[in-house]
Amino acid sequence: MTFHPRIDYATFHTSQRQLEDEGAPFVYTAEHRARFDEILKRYPPDRKRSAVLPALYLVQRQLGYITANAMRYVAGLLEITAADVEDVVSYYTMFRTKPAGIFVLQVCRTLSCALNGAERVTEELSGKLGIVPGQTDASGTFTLLEAECLGACDRAPVVMVNDAWHECLKPEDASKLIDDLRARGEAALSGCHHVIEHKR
Ligand code: FES
Repeated sequence: MTFHPRIDYATFHTSQRQLEDEGAPFVYTAEHRARFDEILKRYPPDRKRSAVLPALYLVQRQLGYITANAMRYVAGLLEITAADVEDVVSYYTMFRTKPAGIFVLQVCRTLSCALNGAERVTEELSGKLGIVPGQTDASGTFTLLEAECLGACDRAPVVMVNDAWHECLKPEDASKLIDDLRARGEAALSGCHHVIEHKR
């Protein structure tokens, strides 16, 4: 199904997009609802819709992906239509509408990273996990993807893991990163140097 209405007399207005998953009825956890309420304070009351991106990130953090019921929930909170939310979800590649692993690894394949061995990083991760980009490993722990520039080109090759960065990942260290993620979770990541330097 799609949230967009079918208009019989004008097929060029008809969305062909299909939502992957209705999902169970959705509400934020208490922690995510509190975070959402904090985020909403950044926007004037008549501009609630501007919070749609962080609202969707919270859904994705909670479920791992975004269901149709979660889109309806966000639409209700922001007083917009479910079709408005679907438009955003389907436009931005960082939002997922299919289940993914606990850790979603996105290897940057754009120029700086490509020149510094990103393809070999992907090969090492593929070999370690037994999957190719676009797949999730048998344990449901890791999803491997390729991405375009992640904005940290001076620290190439860069891998985004969920919402965090790991920079300067040499191919020979890729396998160890998987072991470290299993052992220590996101604490194993280097973080983004732009964020770290900004905090100093
Ligand atoms: S080219 Fe990889 S982060 Fe920009």
